[in-house]
Amino acid sequence: MLDVNGAGLILGVVGTGVMGRGIAQLAAQAGITVWLLDSRPRAAAEARAAVGATLDALASKGRMSAEDARSAMARLEVVVDEASLAGCQVVVEAIVEDLRVKRELFTRLEGIVGPECLLATNTSSLSVTAIAASCERPGRVGGFHFFNPVPLMKVVEVIEGARTEPWVGEALVSLAKRLGHRPVRAADTPGFIVNHAGRGFGTEALRILQEGVASFDEIDRILRDAAGFRMGPFELLDLTGLDVSHPVMESVYEQFYQEPRFRPSYVLRQRLAAGLLGRKSGRGFYAHEGGRQQPVPARALPTGERRPVWVAADEPAWRDALLSLVRAAGWFPDDGERPAPESLCLIAPLGRDATTAALALEVDPARTVAVDLLFGPERRRTAMSTPVTRPAFLDSAVALLSADGTAVSRIHDSTGFVAQRVLATVVNVACDIAQQRIASPEDIDAAVTLGLGYPRGPLAWGDALGPRRLLKALEAIHAASGDPRYRASPWLSRRARLGVSLLTPESCP
Ligand code: NAI
Repeated sequence: MLDVNGAGLILGVVGTGVMGRGIAQLAAQAGITVWLLDSRPRAAAEARAAVGATLDALASKGRMSAEDARSAMARLEVVVDEASLAGCQVVVEAIVEDLRVKRELFTRLEGIVGPECLLATNTSSLSVTAIAASCERPGRVGGFHFFNPVPLMKVVEVIEGARTEPWVGEALVSLAKRLGHRPVRAADTPGFIVNHAGRGFGTEALRILQEGVASFDEIDRILRDAAGFRMGPFELLDLTGLDVSHPVMESVYEQFYQEPRFRPSYVLRQRLAAGLLGRKSGRGFYAHEGGRQQPVPARALPTGERRPVWVAADEPAWRDALLSLVRAAGWFPDDGERPAPESLCLIAPLGRDATTAALALEVDPARTVAVDLLFGPERRRTAMSTPVTRPAFLDSAVALLSADGTAVSRIHDSTGFVAQRVLATVVNVACDIAQQRIASPEDIDAAVTLGLGYPRGPLAWGDALGPRRLLKALEAIHAASGDPRYRASPWLSRRARLGVSLLTPESCP
């Protein structure tokens, strides 16, 4: 049995580019001897030097002692050919993302390393099962998927292919811990956990943009300021580069046999064709100068007239929140059963558009403005008009909503505003990862917070927002759009109806 915690562990790293050198650095810092190999002459030596420079920088900033940096460096050795890897107990490959090349490497390595040696692949988009398939002993092959930059992204996906033997997953989990990373275990499925869970955010934001609901910068503001994402989806697309993001969206969509939840958008294809790649090309959704994203000025808010406000909401707590806003601003609530002729109708629907909600309430759509209260009334507020809302009434609603200095975003009619749609989609995708038994609920949340930097794991986030609410929102959006993209995962719908946490695993194993 392989002991990855032993003092004499030797790890081979094949492919010493961005990822290989990050893995090598972690391992050397963890006291592991690392043998570096690259097919390009001098590449492994350059990688060793680059890791040395990083270790020196860490030492000079006081993040590690100079002695530790020196001994970590001493554990990094450059080897010149594959035959020199014979003594490794584990080999991690981080070579070019090409199935044929990876298979050939593993087949050759099998003839070199000992029978106990574990072969791991850092592939991000290929099937571990397919890479292992050409090996004589596919059971010794596992996925060990790190994120860039490796030392800072403290999570690694441990993937078992269809024929991976149980000891491989166990050994990779132990090795991940020794490297100081959080291991998360994933079944060998497209995108594993992180690249699968990340599909909801960008694709839904693109649909919202495509529907003309709001501009890209307004969508970013809402998702950053109201929902709490560190970056808006369009900022993220610009940072990653459309040449990377769009092919990944297409690939995951195709690998899941055109699953509507992952449907890419023509918006990205067009912009990619135009060379609007993002930061790297100087222009994407945003303009970038000297590598810095240039701000898009927010729309000036109108100063609307005061008027009586009649309120209604899909959730009782939301009605109270609307009334508090009206009173706090010193405006007068219209307490009538029906709105008075000149009253603003301020409504807080869940999963419905303003038009549908106004018609169901039998109030005048021309005087109706909807407010998104999924994230509460404290943060940036979203005001949504119907196609016939009179500008003076929208202006009044915006004046009311911004009376206490809170930022307001104005959007056109949308089933589920912006934040409800995106959050319901993100949580639903995560629920379906759990439903498909790709990973445990805890590992899904850990992978997403550490790998995608979301403020919370999607399942815990769903619990905080209310599974019943999210289910109701999805069902309403699904019914209105007829798009199977919005069908609720059974994981979500069962737990919401049972009133239990989305982190609840099956009680019967
Ligand atoms: P890279 O292009 O920076 O480095 C690849 C290195 O492998 C190069 O130095 C190249 O000379 C070497 N190489 C290519 N074929 C080889 C072979 N047959 N034998 C030995 N060396 C060989 O690539 P990067 O970004 O480090 O990616 C490596 C792997 O990690 C790919 O499978 C990629 O999908 C995966 N990955 C990349 C991430 C990223 O953000 N860059 C994130 C997670 C995984």
